[in-house]
Amino acid sequence: MKRILSAIQPTGEIHFGNYFGAVQNWVKLQDEFQCVYGVVDYHAMTMPYSPSKLRENTWDLIFSLLALGIKPENLFIQSLVPEHTELGWIFNCFCSYGELSRMTQFKDKSDQVKEGDKDAFISAGLFDYPVLQAADILIYKADFVPVGKDQEQHLELARNIATRFNNTVGKEYFVLPEAMFSEALKVRSLADPTKKMSKSLGEKHYISIFEEEKSLRKKVGSAVTDAGDEQERGIMSPGIENLFIMLKAGGKEELHRHMMEIYKDPASKLSYKDLKEAVSDTLVDLTSNFAEKRKELNANKKEIKNQIKESAANIRKIAQETLKEVKELSGLQNVRF
Ligand code: TRP
Repeated sequence: MKRILSAIQPTGEIHFGNYFGAVQNWVKLQDEFQCVYGVVDYHAMTMPYSPSKLRENTWDLIFSLLALGIKPENLFIQSLVPEHTELGWIFNCFCSYGELSRMTQFKDKSDQVKEGDKDAFISAGLFDYPVLQAADILIYKADFVPVGKDQEQHLELARNIATRFNNTVGKEYFVLPEAMFSEALKVRSLADPTKKMSKSLGEKHYISIFEEEKSLRKKVGSAVTDAGDEQERGIMSPGIENLFIMLKAGGKEELHRHMMEIYKDPASKLSYKDLKEAVSDTLVDLTSNFAEKRKELNANKKEIKNQIKESAANIRKIAQETLKEVKELSGLQNVRF
């Protein structure tokens, strides 16, 4: 079975953009591949953060992922597998300063930190984080990495590091991992559908997967649609497209087809109120489902935490094996404990 690795940062609640864009696909992939999914807390330290919040967010994300259908045995917390950082150091020496300087996410994120404060603290960790990401992927010798397009450059870097390592040690040790860009539907912000759904835009822009029904209906109800005559002119605005995307991603294919037909038929007019109601109903179904599972999990908190620690210990064995071989090949000391 081919192996899949992906990871998510514990930076707060999961919204429907994360779910439809990534996690829903992760759940499905578990049937076909050997999947390893990480909650990468070391990565979450690269931006200004609060230590107590980090630990809370990490477990919160674990429980959310479980409620969404990720199997506990496929999950690990990065700081329970410290080999990632050790391999990260080794990989630092197989990655050039120039390569890291070209990472567009670093530029974006450092701009974000500096916004309004020119002297803000930009950590070396933020600059170096793609190297740790390469270690996350290569330590499991992953064949495929399901990621969004924004991670394409980081994946290319991981392949470059692997190639350079192989060349230096004179062995095709690492298999080059491939990005797996899913057909996943890209959900946009409700209040500004030209942008992708994101927490950093503000409350009105996203719907949490555990959103209360009342607030969910209110957010969908006030989602931006279009100026009014687009339907007649046959132009679909980003806002309307977004509503259709959510309907489809939420599994209402039939209803999606039906409403799309009405929308496209010049002889009829689709009521946006109806469309929004259909979207709200779909998302409410999903959220209540997730909330129910979350409640079950919360009732066994201690047990589940232990289960995750155990699965991290199992996953760690793969990482330890790789690191041992890498140290051997790299000319480092390799003491067996
Ligand atoms: N960089 C990714 C993000 O910001 C998170 C991540 C860290 C990741 N390590 C990874 C994704 C390994 C895929 C594989 O979303």
